Amino acid sequence: MSDAKAATNAHLAPYQARGLKGRIFSGVQPTGNLHLGNYLGAIRNFVALQDSYECIYCVVDLHAITVWQDPAELAKQTREIAAAYLAAGVDGSKHIVFNQSSVPAHAQLAWVFNCVARLGWLNRMTQFKEKAGKDRENVSTGLYAYPNLMAADILAYKATHVPVGEDQKQHLELTRDIAIKFNNDFGVPDFFPITEPLIFGEATRVMSLRDGTKKMSKSDPSDYSRIVLTDDADAIAQKIRKAKTDPLPMPDTVADAEKRPEADNLLGIYAALSDSSKEDIVSAFAGQQFSAFKSALTDLAVAKLGPMGAEMQRLMADPGHVDAVMRDGAARAHALAQPILDEVYRTVGFLRP
Ligand code: TYM
Repeated sequence: MSDAKAATNAHLAPYQARGLKGRIFSGVQPTGNLHLGNYLGAIRNFVALQDSYECIYCVVDLHAITVWQDPAELAKQTREIAAAYLAAGVDGSKHIVFNQSSVPAHAQLAWVFNCVARLGWLNRMTQFKEKAGKDRENVSTGLYAYPNLMAADILAYKATHVPVGEDQKQHLELTRDIAIKFNNDFGVPDFFPITEPLIFGEATRVMSLRDGTKKMSKSDPSDYSRIVLTDDADAIAQKIRKAKTDPLPMPDTVADAEKRPEADNLLGIYAALSDSSKEDIVSAFAGQQFSAFKSALTDLAVAKLGPMGAEMQRLMADPGHVDAVMRDGAARAHALAQPILDEVYRTVGFLRP
């Protein structure tokens, strides 16, 4: 067994003794309307993991300001993401739901990690390259150091598992590198766990409805590229009707689908929403016209997303409950993170006179 694996296992023992598989941490940025990719790639899995892990679900407002956010919008969207967690089925009394800036340990540990991570590691981050684009000289230094803060989010709780969509995989590899380097540099071999990513389901990378080669994203200028969780039935129907497809009938095999990005994307969405496999959906619709498939997909999406959107609106109309859940979550998160941060500070050699 590798050293990294042994270290992970050592951290699991206390959870296993409680009948749990470990501790989960994950987060979503409050930077725009939540879309189907966020739901199928992440939030849906947050809900599924609640029975077997201790879970900490965060709204990462510190990450959000790495690009400009209107302050009033940021506050509103922070609440909205927390409402989405609850509306999707996260149990905020059993698990922890809170916003990142309410727990100082995230920013404090991130500074230590700014001094552990190497420039060369961050230079390789593809998400930074994509987000910075050609205007690299003008982006915030926060955007560059973003993955270090993400490592701090996870390791402030010594989380053992992190459910995310596929686009976060490289950031989680960096988190592992930071944990290993910290443990080695300071001679504390088992201090931070070597976190495992949990990337699962039939829609780990949902693509734009307008272009099957581009990821569905909050920042795409076209509203028709994504279904958002608060879309009503008409909006969902219209977006699916207009979704780009190719001129051929529905594919016969998964291998055929995989050569046709738009068909593959819609089949993956259907499979994920119906809790089935892509194989099953391909065989159910093989050879049919896209119009029939799209109308079945619309019914499914409206049935699955409609009640969640309505619950989000209900929670947002009277935000007292969401705020109370976040306040209580922040207090519990702080109680978990502070002793870990204190130990990091002692390990690094910060004097507490
Ligand atoms: P964010 O806010 O961009 O996305 C939130 C979650 O949604 C997933 N996701 C997708 N999954 C499938 N298909 C898509 N098109 C799609 N778009 C987004 C993301 O993978 C993510 O799981 N850096 C993170 C937030 C973060 C975090 C963390 C996550 C901050 N600290 C610690 C885990 C652990 C982000 O920007 O996610």
